[in-house]
Amino acid sequence: MKSPVTVAVTGGAGQVAYSLLFQVANGSVFGNDQPVNLIIKEVPQFVGTLEGVRMELEDCAFPLLNKITLTDSDTEAFDGANWALLVGATPRGPGMERKDLLLMNAASFRDQGTAIDKTAASDIRVVVVGNPCNTNCLIAMHHAPDVPRTRFTALTRLDQNRSRAALAIKAGRPVSAVERMTIWGNHSSTQFPDFEHAVIDGKPVPEVISDRNWLENTFVEAVQKRGAAIIAARGKSSAASAANAVLDHVRSMLEQTDGDNWYSMGVVSDGNNYGIADGLIFSFPCRTDGKGEWSIVEGLSLSDYAKKKLETTQFELIGEREDVKELL
Ligand code: LMR
Repeated sequence: MKSPVTVAVTGGAGQVAYSLLFQVANGSVFGNDQPVNLIIKEVPQFVGTLEGVRMELEDCAFPLLNKITLTDSDTEAFDGANWALLVGATPRGPGMERKDLLLMNAASFRDQGTAIDKTAASDIRVVVVGNPCNTNCLIAMHHAPDVPRTRFTALTRLDQNRSRAALAIKAGRPVSAVERMTIWGNHSSTQFPDFEHAVIDGKPVPEVISDRNWLENTFVEAVQKRGAAIIAARGKSSAASAANAVLDHVRSMLEQTDGDNWYSMGVVSDGNNYGIADGLIFSFPCRTDGKGEWSIVEGLSLSDYAKKKLETTQFELIGEREDVKELL
């Protein structure tokens, strides 16, 4: 039997975690032979709810679930963690922009970064889900100076999944036919879902969907505003699809990326790719080598249209970094 992988999940009483935890525990992410220790964190006012989550996890009798720890402390939450899934954050409500959340959530990501630095396992990998996830990731990374910067990632897989689904529906093809879907930039309404490099059945999307106006306007805007549309319809932010995207993100980081496909995630820019400033957490096309290291797909040629989109989303991220500069 392998030794357990320790997975810390924050926001444990929330809706995203409620979808996520059971799939982490059932072996569908880390493997059918990989035991899991779960550390579930919640803020003190909701930590009592976690007892119910624990009971349900126990009642699933998952053979691979080795240990469950419930906590409201950052120090305990990341103790020996190999993975930290930072889901907990005040979610966006109707009419709010992600920016409104920045200062509300920033201090907790500072504290989590500090705790990760001091207590996590040496191979820790961090996935930031709580919004605004790129800048929250930046703050946590900044406060964990002993953890390599490449270990910090932010979730744009939900946007990638949304884009693939929208293109597949428009083209009348299965989702699996849509590949190489890049989300550039911020997980916000400035992100650029890059239909120019995506392919359907191996053909560039603009050759399959010739309606450029639909691609540039309807499609891009629908993906950018999908989170808000779900909030408007449900009165709450996305949960099951967000959890599903976290699982996809972790799986993509663990598995070698197929052929010349790629996936999207927010990672730290080293200033060498696509004109993006050093240190920003920016969503790029990425590949994983199967040994736990990722790299940015280099050398994609960008149209003038795409360059403008990247400038816009980079500008927003630089502004967010400026807004939290006291914490950096
Ligand atoms: C989403 O994209 O659905 C989530 O990040 C929630 C939000 O605030 O948009």
